[in-house]
Amino acid sequence: MKILSVINEKGGVGKTTTTLNIAHELARHGFRTLLLDLDKQCDLTKTVYRQPWEVGIREVLEGITSIDEIYYENEDKLRFILGSKDISAFKDNGADLRLILEQAGIDKETDFVVIDYPPEANDATIKGLIASDYVLIVTEVETLSIDNLLPMIETLEVVCSSHERPFNIIGIVANKVDYRRNLTKINYERLSRMLGNILFDTHIGTNTMIPYSIQEGVPVRKVGWSKAAKQYSLLVEEMLERMK
Ligand SMILES: Nc1ncnc2c1ncn2[C@@H]1O[C@H](COP(=O)(O)OP(=O)(O)OP(=O)(O)O)[C@@H](O)[C@H]1O
Ligand SMILES: [Mg+2]
Repeated sequence: MKILSVINEKGGVGKTTTTLNIAHELARHGFRTLLLDLDKQCDLTKTVYRQPWEVGIREVLEGITSIDEIYYENEDKLRFILGSKDISAFKDNGADLRLILEQAGIDKETDFVVIDYPPEANDATIKGLIASDYVLIVTEVETLSIDNLLPMIETLEVVCSSHERPFNIIGIVANKVDYRRNLTKINYERLSRMLGNILFDTHIGTNTMIPYSIQEGVPVRKVGWSKAAKQYSLLVEEMLERMK
């Protein structure tokens, strides 16, 4: 079982969208994939589980609820663990996310856990990060987004080195790329110069099918052919290649 965290300290860059779509692509490759929502907004949970719910991952981390109660599979065979709207109030109690998954036997039936994060850090996000094998950074190609990347990578390295279990930054993916904008070309070149060693060759373009698919509660591939679906597929191939 590999745990992949999809992060950025900036809001609205496409973390949730990327989490859902790469999980779906991993599942298409035959990997048994599980989604986990660590964001109090619960956008991922609301997208895949389209009904009201009470308890989520916070109660599991606090030992109040068993994971079986918040563990679902939708009609696409995508499995997910419900988020908690009050997850940011979770206080570190020594719980170990990986151990919780292992004790529930989930590791034996899962190849990848893909975790969606909020833009801000809290005790729950630290739990997720230190349980991770890989971290994927999603960014927009805007000046301020790019400026934030190096300090964020430094923070990640500090978190990583202060815990026993090291994780790899598997790469940075540029999202909402619109080459019709001149500024995008300039910023993309800057991003490549700065972080070309970890930037994925594949980017995700701005595509109206993406918000539409989220509204429908499905990965973009499920709403018909789109360039975005092809790009997520290439991104996952590139990511799997880096994991070899
Ligand atoms: N490539 C894209 N093209 C067009 N729209 C996109 C793209 N990626 C994401 N979006 C849209 O941008 C908005 C923000 O995306 P998303 O919710 O995935 O960001 P986020 O980083 O998870 O936000 P938050 O920080 O609030 O959790 C959504 O409306 C989503 O549909
Ligand atoms: Mg989100």
